[in-house]
Amino acid sequence: MSLLNQIDKSRAPRHVAIIMDGNGRWAKSQGRERTFGHYQGVESVRLALRAAKSSGVEFLTLYAFSTENWNRPKEEVDALMNLLVQSIIGELPELDENEVRMHAIGDLDKLPSECHSELKRAIAHTSTNNKLNLILALNYSARWEITHAVKQIVAEGIQPQDITDELFAKKLSTAGFPDPELLIRTSGEERISNFLLWQIAYAELYFVETLWPDFKEEDFYAAIVDFQSRERRFGKTSEQITGDALSPFTPNEP
Ligand code: IPE
Ligand code: IPE
Ligand code: MG
Repeated sequence: MSLLNQIDKSRAPRHVAIIMDGNGRWAKSQGRERTFGHYQGVESVRLALRAAKSSGVEFLTLYAFSTENWNRPKEEVDALMNLLVQSIIGELPELDENEVRMHAIGDLDKLPSECHSELKRAIAHTSTNNKLNLILALNYSARWEITHAVKQIVAEGIQPQDITDELFAKKLSTAGFPDPELLIRTSGEERISNFLLWQIAYAELYFVETLWPDFKEEDFYAAIVDFQSRERRFGKTSEQITGDALSPFTPNEP
């Protein structure tokens, strides 16, 4: 029986973020080039989208390319950028069919021009879809995002007394999205790798050994079931939380 039946959709995390890791190791285990793992990883993205929609998740953020990933061999970077363009073009009909709205966060201007233009086209094309928000983190790093926000605040001449958590969150590329309540990382690595440092302040972290190309719908449901078994206290005592079925507050509620 599917783990989907164990999910209480009325308490599903609104926003799930995933560090999709392990494509290279998966390919190596098959005796193939690393890029084969990235191609295979696209199928896992498709399945994660479906599983997110079935679970009642509203926002799914996927870490697809970090600012540090430019340091990989040129052939791999080129293959990833090509794959991105091909996937955006190829997946658009299915995204539409599932009423998925696409967004992107990161230093997008520095992506190759074809990537940037296809991305913008897909974002505009899906802008009226409203079942699930897919946020692609591309040329993204949290430190870039935070320094970018600081520069904006300074440039706008905002005074120190007016700088609050809420104002700062509005200057980040995730402005308008709720904070992720669940962060999943595949491949057994237990680190954040410069992802959403501000936004995951109170996220539940879920690390799983499965390599990204092996991550299927049931793996996504397993993460949600695990999330729903946790007690989120937000600094309060367990006694204060008991009996309160819903989170006492959702940080950065738009
Ligand atoms: C994640 O898989 C995909 C990207 C970072 C683009 P990796 O390519 O990092 O795979 P491993 O971690 O080397 O196995
Ligand atoms: C994180 O994975 C970035 C993405 C999934 C896009 P990496 O494979 O680049 O992270 P590290 O280098 O192992 O920390
Ligand atoms: Mg990796």
